[in-house]
Amino acid sequence: MTKTKIAATSDVSADKVLKSSANGQSVLVAKVGDQYCAIANKCPHLGLPLAKGKYENGVITCPFHGSKFELCSGKNVEWVESFAGIPLPGAAKKLMAMGKTPTDVASFTVTQEGEDLFIEA
Ligand code: FES
Repeated sequence: MTKTKIAATSDVSADKVLKSSANGQSVLVAKVGDQYCAIANKCPHLGLPLAKGKYENGVITCPFHGSKFELCSGKNVEWVESFAGIPLPGAAKKLMAMGKTPTDVASFTVTQEGEDLFIEA
């Protein structure tokens, strides 16, 4: 693992996620309260990017099937709830999950030095 700069504090706002990268890995950075947070830009359901998902109150919703993840912990808070933004009924959710069980997304500890933000990746 290598310490890698992912953003400057001035790049990160409270109301949206910033797409960045570290050692070839795509990551999302956000400011939640006073804390800078980062997760992998890769949904653990099917490995698709989370970056274009709706972001609200420190939680990003996967744009593909609606799984939700906390930016600061990577914790999964909802799993496969929709398809292309349309809510799925129970049986369809199970089919869409394709046998995958709720999984957290990889998260990173963000450190700050001056105006720069880093993760170990
Ligand atoms: S790829 Fe994210 S919920 Fe399916």
